[in-house]
Amino acid sequence: MKKRLLISVLLAAALLCGSLPVCAQQDVGALALILNHYSTRDFVAGAIPDVDIELIVQAGIRAPSAANRQPWYFTVVQNPVLAKKLVSNNEDGNVLIVVSAVGDGKTNNVQILDCALAVQSIYLAAQALGYGSRIYTGPIDNLNKNFKGDLSLPNGHSAVALVRVGKIKPDAVSSASARKRAAELVTYKK
Ligand SMILES: Cc1cc2nc3c(=O)[nH]c(=O)nc-3n(C[C@H](O)[C@H](O)[C@H](O)COP(=O)(O)O)c2cc1C
Repeated sequence: MKKRLLISVLLAAALLCGSLPVCAQQDVGALALILNHYSTRDFVAGAIPDVDIELIVQAGIRAPSAANRQPWYFTVVQNPVLAKKLVSNNEDGNVLIVVSAVGDGKTNNVQILDCALAVQSIYLAAQALGYGSRIYTGPIDNLNKNFKGDLSLPNGHSAVALVRVGKIKPDAVSSASARKRAAELVTYKK
């Protein structure tokens, strides 16, 4: 609860000042979050307070973007019937945050990269607040073909990805998949 309060204070400061206080840049907890996240498999049912959803969406809004164009739009799906049409195993109370932008959602590379950063920020913010989260692109073709109207996406927008946020069991343990070794992935030129 203390951590949530701190995050709320930081976000409030960010909204008031337009930037985060310096101490937030030195938050070791943030690094731990980045290193320890995992894509939740075992979501459980349960409502998420609106205040938490708003904080999580703020994390998306605050993502960096090329030339600060902020091309994204966030559609927060809380309707359980609609959510299940997009992600068939969605549990009641899980929230789907659809990130969309002008275009077909596929071919504007810079815009897709911007949206990807917003998606990642949402995904991590949810875990910072103690929820499970998972990024999905699998349902996006179906969404763009059949559900733009139901979702009231802005004119000309297509979804790029969605983030599922939901409760997890209190004793949930990380199910992170193995990653390739740094030796395979990194070259240092000194
Ligand atoms: C761009 C992107 C698209 C993804 N799409 C899906 C998806 O459609 N369905 C799904 O179950 N998981 C999806 N995932 C989750 C990945 O499968 C998961 O991040 C990866 O297996 C690593 O798992 P871990 O984070 O738990 O280690 C997606 C992840 C990313 C980054």
